[in-house]
Amino acid sequence: MGTKLANGHRRVAIVKGLRTPFVKAGTVFGELTALELGRIVVQELVQRSEIDPMEIDQVVFGQVIPTLTATGIAREVVIAAGLPRKIEAHTVARACATSIQALTDAANSIALGLSEVAIAGGTESMSDAPIFTSRPLAQALVQSSRGRSLPEKVRPFQKLKPKDLLPVPPAIAEYSTGLTMGESAEKMAKENRISRKEQDEIALASHQNAARAWKEGKLDGEVMHVPVPPEYESVADRDNIIREDTTLEALSALKPVFDRKYGTITAGNSSPLTDGAAALLVMSEEKAKSLGFEPLGFVRAFAYAATDPADQLLQGPAYAAPIALDRAGMKLSDVDLIEMHEAFAAQVASNIQALASKEFAKKAGRASPAGEVDPSRLNVNGGSIALGHPFAATGARIVTTALGELGRRNKNTVLCTVCAAGGLGAAVVLERP
Ligand SMILES: CC(C)(COP(=O)(O)OP(=O)(O)OC[C@H]1O[C@@H](n2cnc3c(N)ncnc32)[C@H](O)[C@@H]1OP(=O)(O)O)[C@@H](O)C(=O)NCCC(=O)NCCS
Repeated sequence: MGTKLANGHRRVAIVKGLRTPFVKAGTVFGELTALELGRIVVQELVQRSEIDPMEIDQVVFGQVIPTLTATGIAREVVIAAGLPRKIEAHTVARACATSIQALTDAANSIALGLSEVAIAGGTESMSDAPIFTSRPLAQALVQSSRGRSLPEKVRPFQKLKPKDLLPVPPAIAEYSTGLTMGESAEKMAKENRISRKEQDEIALASHQNAARAWKEGKLDGEVMHVPVPPEYESVADRDNIIREDTTLEALSALKPVFDRKYGTITAGNSSPLTDGAAALLVMSEEKAKSLGFEPLGFVRAFAYAATDPADQLLQGPAYAAPIALDRAGMKLSDVDLIEMHEAFAAQVASNIQALASKEFAKKAGRASPAGEVDPSRLNVNGGSIALGHPFAATGARIVTTALGELGRRNKNTVLCTVCAAGGLGAAVVLERP
C-alpha cells in the first residue's frame, strides 16, 4: 500500500518528465504548431517510460495562447499522439503556471482516487500565435457569409475603413491594467529598487548554470531530440537560447526595451519568446509500485495565490510559496533546492526580496517573513531567461529538472514557483521517496 497523507489522500508520484528542446520563436520549430509539439513530447514520454498506454486514464494539458482551430488541446494531443481514445482529457490554462495547473489537477484526481495514471503538461508555439481580424472585419465576414446574392455578399465590406483590415495580434498586455508584462516588471524593478546590475547578474547566472548543466550532461535525459517535420532533415537536440559566452559587460550594454529612457529591463534580463512542450507522467504511489516504476519524487503540497495586477503583477510566488510551505509543514530554510521561474530577472529579485521582508509579510497577512533564499540552491541548472519560456511548458520543465537534480544530489525537497499573468502565483513542494 502507498503512503496516505495526513489529510487521508493518496500520495502522488511523478514517474518521469520530458520536454522538447526550448527554442527561440521563429527558429527551428517555426513551422510547427503547438499541437504538434505537444504530440511529439507525449508520444516520446509514453515510449520512453514504457508504460502500457491502456494504463493511462487522463491527460491534462494546457496552452496559454490558444490554437483556435484546436481549442481542446489536451484531447487533441491524445488523438494526435495515437493514444487510446478512451483516455479522457481536459485543457487547462493558468498563464505561465499552466503546466503546474495541469500537474496539480492530475494530482488532485489521483490523490482522491478518481484516477490512477495521468499525463500532465503544456505546449506553446509563439511562432504560431493566432492573428485575429478587427471586429468590423469579422462582423462583415459573418454578414457576407449570410448574403444570398453577390451584392448582398459584397455590401458588408463597403462600410470598412482601411484600418479595419489590419491584423490584430493576441494581447500581450494585462487586460485589467493595459500594461505589458515587461512594463509591469519594470514597475516592480522601480518600486523594489532592483538595480540593473542585480538583474544582469541573475541573467548571467541563468546562462552560466544552464550552459554548465548541458555540458555536464544533466539535461540529456530530460530533453528529447526532435527530428523536425515536415522534412525531417534537421534534428533539434538542444535548447538554442542559452549563451554560454555571455558576460556582464555584454548584458550591461543592452538597451532597455520597455522603458527606453529610464528602464532597466532588456532582452538580456527577460525571458525570450519561445517554442516548446513538456510533459510529466504522474500516478498514484500504489500504481507506480505495482507497475514497477521508481518515482522521481512526490507532490508534497502546493498552493496558488493572487495579488492585485495593478500592484506588483509578478509577485504571486512570494504569496503562494509560504502557503505551500505551511501545507508541507516546512520552512523555506528546510528546502534543499528552489526552482523559480524567471519571467524577468527583476521579478526573481523582487520575489526573493519579498520572501525575506517583514513589511511584505505584513502586507501578505503573515506573522513573519518566509526567509532568505540561498542563491546556491536557486535555479542551479539555469532558468527561463537562458533556457527559454514556452509559457505553458515551463512548469513541467521546472518540475522535471528539479526532481532530476534532487536525485543527483540525493536530497529530499524542492520548492518550485511560477509567477503568472493576472497577478497569480503558483508554488509546489516536491519530495523524494
Ligand atoms: C524582451 C524582448 C522584447 C526581446 O525581444 P528581441 O528584441 O526579439 O530579443 P533578441 O533576442 O533579438 O535580443 C535583442 C538583442 O539583445 C541581444 N542579447 C539578448 N540577450 C543577450 C545576452 N544574454 N547577452 C548578450 N546579448 C544579448 C541580442 O543579441 C540582440 O542583439 P542584436 O539586436 O544586436 O541582434 C522579448 O524577448 C520579450 O518580449 N520578452 C518578454 C516575454 C514575456 O513577456 N514573457 C512573459 C513572462 S511570464
